[in-house]
Amino acid sequence: MNIFSENIVFGCGGRFQLWSKIPEKFRSDVVLLVSERLKNSGKLSDFLPIDSLEIIAVPSMEPTISMVEKVREKIGSREISALIAIGGGSVIDCGKMAAIYLEQSNKIHSMREYFEGKYQLQPRERIFFAALPTTAGTGAEVTNNAVIIDDVTAVKKSLRDDSMIADLALIDPELTYDCLQKIVAASGLDSLTQAIECAISRKTTCETRRMASEAFLKVLANLESAYSGDKEAKNIMAYATTLGGVAFRIGGLGAAHGLAHPIGSLRHIAHGEACGILLEHILRINIEAVDKLAGELGFASGNELIEKIVALRNKLGVSDNFRKYDIKQEDFAFIAKNCRSGSMSCNPVAMRDEDIYELLTKIC
Ligand SMILES: [Fe+2]
Repeated sequence: MNIFSENIVFGCGGRFQLWSKIPEKFRSDVVLLVSERLKNSGKLSDFLPIDSLEIIAVPSMEPTISMVEKVREKIGSREISALIAIGGGSVIDCGKMAAIYLEQSNKIHSMREYFEGKYQLQPRERIFFAALPTTAGTGAEVTNNAVIIDDVTAVKKSLRDDSMIADLALIDPELTYDCLQKIVAASGLDSLTQAIECAISRKTTCETRRMASEAFLKVLANLESAYSGDKEAKNIMAYATTLGGVAFRIGGLGAAHGLAHPIGSLRHIAHGEACGILLEHILRINIEAVDKLAGELGFASGNELIEKIVALRNKLGVSDNFRKYDIKQEDFAFIAKNCRSGSMSCNPVAMRDEDIYELLTKIC
């Protein structure tokens, strides 16, 4: 299956085509959503007519209800024609929700009500939404979901709707070249986790298993070099992440993602780091499914495959536990209650609350 199309464009230097790929009728009032770092980098003017755009910088953290509300406040009642999100998965997720919110502002009265599931979304038609990733990690540019945190309760949800699919996902690996090393590590581990969880998910199909397996092998082989700054490895990471993203949009994820959400929101742990810590443990719980996949991919056993992941994680300086985050036993109930997402239900082995408590006791 060729994942690239009119809507998903991949290639070094692709950012220079961005403006021409936005249909003319959507170029009248364009808003750019970026991280503070990118806004101040001076790079946007290389490929965008920034003087004619409004640029909104958002904090480099997972989007919260109030962050999306602030984007809406800044734009006010204006009817913008396009929203372009350039950044890591958090900026892109914030953009996905803002685009829907702005377009349907007469129907969606508050982001909180949307978060609480009070609205049935209409397809997005009026605002063109483009996503350009600057990290190789979440695959957010090609997925139909966005992760958002309730600032008040710390509950993190993955909201899913096809109107969140970008009209244009433009993946230019060169945009990832100056990504901070610790973000290369965390986002790469997210990509790795997404790929292998999709490959063994209960919902995976032959096609998504094949795509996710290819993505997994590419990330496993290239993440360490990408972390060391190798540009060719970064190109492959960008490709593999997109491939994995297209796969898991259909094939689903697993318990590492299910648990990473409440653990991450509880202590503000980067999503990729939380996934990286959890992955080994979740794969050991799913050893039967991992053994089968390992055989298909040419590993001697599931354990050998897991050991390769552990060696990579160690080289990236990511721990195998959450002890430094001071998660207490009284937090376990919050985690067990808020991990029951679609990802959790795709995990090969059904995890009961007591299984989750046992795992948390071991790793917290
Ligand atoms: Fe993820």
